[in-house]
Amino acid sequence: MTSTSETDAHAPQADERSFYITTPIFYPNANLHMGHAYTVTVCDILARYHRLKGDATYLLTGTDENTGKVTDAAETAGKDVATFLDDIVDTYKTLFADLDISYDQFIRTSDQERHWPGAQEMWRRLEAAGDIYKDTYNGLYCRDCEAFLTERDLVDGKCPDHDTRPEEVEEENYFFRLSRYTDQIAEKMHSGGFQVLPKERENEVLSMLDEGLGDVSFSRPKEKVSWGIPVPGDEAQVIYVWCDALTNYISALGFGRENQQLFDRFWPADVHVIGKDILKFHAAFWPAMLMSAGMELSDTILVHGMITSGGYKMSKSRGNVIAPYELINEYGTDALRYYLARHISPFSDGDLTIERFEEVYNADLANGIGNLASRVLKMYVKFGYNYPTFSETQKMDQDALREEYESAFNRFELTEAANVVWRRIANLDQYITDSEPFKKIKEDEQKAKDDIGYLVHELFEIAVMLEPIMPDTAQKIKTAINNEESLAQPLFPRKE
Ligand code: MSP
Repeated sequence: MTSTSETDAHAPQADERSFYITTPIFYPNANLHMGHAYTVTVCDILARYHRLKGDATYLLTGTDENTGKVTDAAETAGKDVATFLDDIVDTYKTLFADLDISYDQFIRTSDQERHWPGAQEMWRRLEAAGDIYKDTYNGLYCRDCEAFLTERDLVDGKCPDHDTRPEEVEEENYFFRLSRYTDQIAEKMHSGGFQVLPKERENEVLSMLDEGLGDVSFSRPKEKVSWGIPVPGDEAQVIYVWCDALTNYISALGFGRENQQLFDRFWPADVHVIGKDILKFHAAFWPAMLMSAGMELSDTILVHGMITSGGYKMSKSRGNVIAPYELINEYGTDALRYYLARHISPFSDGDLTIERFEEVYNADLANGIGNLASRVLKMYVKFGYNYPTFSETQKMDQDALREEYESAFNRFELTEAANVVWRRIANLDQYITDSEPFKKIKEDEQKAKDDIGYLVHELFEIAVMLEPIMPDTAQKIKTAINNEESLAQPLFPRKE
C-alpha cells in the first residue's frame, strides 16, 4: 500500500501531470458487499494505470460517517458511536488491503481535524455567495437514502430503492439555492467543461436540469440529528448529509485547513467514480456547490452500473449475496480484480455468480495467463534464450496493442483494456503452437532460443499491461523473468 501521509507531498511541478481520483465515501452501516468492492477496485485500477504512466496520482477513499443512522446502529451494537465507527472503519480498511487497493488517503467525515474545517469553510462560502437561506421544510424523508424525496419519487407511497415509507417531516432547515445553478451546469456540460460518463447518464442529468431542480435542504436541526458537523454561526443546526459528504473530496486535500499543498496540487479532480444511485448528488449538487464557492469543477463523473447476481439485485432474502471474501479466499485477490475489470462493463449493470466466476477463472486465468506464464518460464529457464530482435510487423503489432490499451484506459473502458491484454496472451499462445521451440531446440538451437527470447519479452510486456488490474500477478511474472526462475507454484491452480 502506498503512503497515507500528507507530509511527503510537495508543491506542484510546472510540467507535472496529475491525476486525482475518488471513490464514493461509504456509509459505515454494514459489511461492504460486492458493489462496494467493485467501485473501489475500478478506482484502484485507474489509479495504478496513471501511476504506471508516471502521472502524479492521488486516490482518495473513506467513510461517510455523519448520518442519522449511525447513532441508532451504534446503540443496537451496544457500543459508543466513536468505537462503533472505528471498528467498522477497521474492517473496511482490512477489506481494502485484501483487495490490494492502493489508496493514498482514507478520509472519515467524523474527523474533526481533517474534514470538519473544509465542510464548514464550504458552508461559509455558500453563505457568502448568498446561496444559503433559512426556511421551514415540509417533506418526506427517507432515512435509508439519507435524502428528502418528493411525491414523484415514490412508488405506492414508498421509496422505490428501500421499499419503506418515508417519514413526514416539518422542521427549520437551511436551504441551498440549487435552482440558481441548473442552467450554468448544463452550459458547462455543453461546452465540455464538465462531463458525465457514459453519455446516457449525462443526458439523464441534462433532462433533469432542463426540468429544473428546486432548492435543497442543507441542514437539519441538531435535536433530530445529534451526530454531525455544526453549521457555522448556528449551533442549533447540523450540516446535512450531502453538503457534508461531497465536501470530503476537497477537505481531504486540505481545503479549509492551513496546509493546502495537496489541494493546490490535485484539485480539480479528474474523476469521481460513483454508482448510478448517487448521480444527482454528484452531477447537480456538487458542481452547483463548487460554482457557488467559486471553485473549479471536477472534470468527469464516471457512473458505473450495479452488480447483480443471476440477474437480480443481491439481497439477503433472495440468498444471492456474494461477499467479496467468498471469492478472495477461494480464488485470490487478483482473480476477483480480474473478473471485475474484464467481465463487468464499467458503464452498465453487470452480473456475477460463483458458477460464472469459476468458469472464467479456469478459462482465462488457469488456462490463460497462468498456463502461458508457466510454459514460457519453463522453456526460458531450461533452454536459455537469445535477446530478441523484432520484425517490422511485430513492432507495429506491439505499438498498436499499446495504443489500443492506452486509449481504452483514457476512456475508462476497463473491459476493453483487459481485452487487449488477453488478446496479447492469445497471440503468444498461438506463437508457441506455431514455433514449437521445445521441439525445435534439438534441431535448431539458435532459432529456438530466438523464439524463447521473443516469448519472454512478450510475457514481460503482458505483465506490465497487467499491473493495474492484477498487481500481484504482474509482480510475480516480472520477478521470475528478472531472476531467470520458473514459477514455483502455478499462478492460478485449476478449480474442478
Ligand atoms: N455515502 C454515500 C456516498 C457519498 S459520496 C460523497 C453512499 N454510500 S454507500 O455506501 O451506500 O454506497 C457507496 C457506493 O457503492 C455508491 O457509489 C453506490 O452506488 C455503490 N453501490 C452500492 N450498491 C451497489 C451495487 N449493487 N453495485 C454497484 N455499486 C453499488 O451512497
